[in-house]
Amino acid sequence: AASDTRPPSPRSPVTRPVTARVPAKVNVQLAVGGRRPDGFHDLANVFLAVGLHDEVTATPAESLRVTVEGTDAPHVPTDHTNLAARAAIALAARHGIAPDVHLHITKDIPVAGGMAGGSADAAGALVACDALWGTKTSRTELLALCADLGSDVPFSLVGGAALGRGRGELLTPLETGGTFHWVFAVADGGLSTPAVYRECDRLREETGAGATVDDVPDPEPSEALLTALHTGDPAALAAAVTNDLQPAALSLRPALAETLRAGADGGALASLVSGSGPTCAFLAKDAEAAQDVATALAASGTCRTVRTASGPAPGATVTTP
Ligand code: C5P
Repeated sequence: AASDTRPPSPRSPVTRPVTARVPAKVNVQLAVGGRRPDGFHDLANVFLAVGLHDEVTATPAESLRVTVEGTDAPHVPTDHTNLAARAAIALAARHGIAPDVHLHITKDIPVAGGMAGGSADAAGALVACDALWGTKTSRTELLALCADLGSDVPFSLVGGAALGRGRGELLTPLETGGTFHWVFAVADGGLSTPAVYRECDRLREETGAGATVDDVPDPEPSEALLTALHTGDPAALAAAVTNDLQPAALSLRPALAETLRAGADGGALASLVSGSGPTCAFLAKDAEAAQDVATALAASGTCRTVRTASGPAPGATVTTP
């Protein structure tokens, strides 16, 4: 066959696959305000990106297609409800092109685990497709697309450490003074984020305090926590971590209390539910202590898998040349 000498379409200057690598997150502070009229909750959300990653590879295709590999792959939708597919559709629409791309997701972040795995895939799809299509979307536009896709997606793009206000999408980057060592206990099965927020509201209403923005004080970041992040002091950070969704996650999944206890018994400086759960996060003094906590958790039989990871980690990054 004659070789194709046509120049590549100006809208598709890259024909070889583009891969993006995106980190998971843990919330070191998750202060949840009252339910807003739009159903979301105002947050003071201090994110830390950690070195557990998904990869998203974008390849030109006849039409939009999603494939997934990894232990949790059977639990990830491959239709257009997948957040990575929605990201490709949104980016293509923004530039008036067709989202004809094959997105292959290599999944290492626990699915529905409270570690922003779906958000990571959306941010990864955005930067991979932007490079594949040569659409050169500005950082500001990418952040706006991220915010439309989900509250945690902007943070997956920027990584590092950041304070999220609003529903978590309004980010202020934070400087960190060191590396924090974490252990993650991955549970069997996920928890639905909306269900955990609903349970948080229900528990608040049960106490008679009310659950709306008129009832609940505005969430504020902890000065002690921001200082601990800034100085890189794990003991000070451990003393300051909080998660307002933890009672709700424990209410829906009481067995998590045993996981939290097992990590604490194993020497963790702090034990908390990660975001909306059910993954539990344990802060350790250093890498060696993290190994000890991981060993204790694995021996406890209170979780499916144990992972160690440190943070901060960089946000969504294209890794192909
Ligand atoms: O923004 P995202 O799509 O990730 O949110 C999923 C769900 O989590 C929302 O529909 C809402 O029920 C809940 N949520 C919330 N307040 C936030 C973020 C999420 O109530 N700040």
